[in-house]
Amino acid sequence: MNHISKSSEDTEKIAKEFLDKITNGFPLTRGTKGVVSRACVVGLTGDLGTGKTTFTQFVAKSLGVKTKVNSPTFVIMKRYSLPLRRGSARRARGFKKVGRKFKNLFHIDAYRLKNEKELFHLGWEEIISNPENLVFIEWPELVAKAMPKKHYKISIKHLPRRSGAKAGTKEGHRKFGIKFSS
Ligand SMILES: Nc1ncnc2c1ncn2[C@@H]1O[C@H](COP(=O)(O)OP(=O)(O)O)[C@@H](O)[C@H]1O
Ligand SMILES: [Mg+2]
Repeated sequence: MNHISKSSEDTEKIAKEFLDKITNGFPLTRGTKGVVSRACVVGLTGDLGTGKTTFTQFVAKSLGVKTKVNSPTFVIMKRYSLPLRRGSARRARGFKKVGRKFKNLFHIDAYRLKNEKELFHLGWEEIISNPENLVFIEWPELVAKAMPKKHYKISIKHLPRRSGAKAGTKEGHRKFGIKFSS
């Protein structure tokens, strides 16, 4: 899955589409019996300023988070409770058909972590064991050993522009590569 974003609005659409995909039965977190047994973990890779935090902010918005979602660079980890939507209990029961429901969104920035150990101190194992959790982590390559075998990978790159602003400025176009790895 590859996308080009020319604006924040495009990124918002890509974030929504991605959410739709993961809530509507990508094979990722289903066990052999079709039961979801683990959290859904998404690694966001890309240089500083490519839009990893922005992407997560749109995910949060799309999930109904009303509080401001700031970059967790300094606090490392933030948790947002997700509002229950109408019909969500029915939806949860009918997961196979309609999709899964998350209760918590975790936003982690591993940039300042020295290694996986620091992530484990934050309760990582417990977080990724709970199927009600949706976890977005920036700089997953810095804690590669802690990443669950099955997770999504989103890589974002600045694209050079033909004219106008330099590549690497915040207005530059972005390319999103979205993969599921196992
Ligand atoms: N798709 C986009 N279009 C335009 N500007 C963007 C886009 N994505 C991010 N930005 C801007 O780029 C800057 C850095 O984004 P940020 O999400 O903090 O990057 P990162 O988390 O990868 O370091 C912000 O000012 C943000 O508004
Ligand atoms: Mg960031």
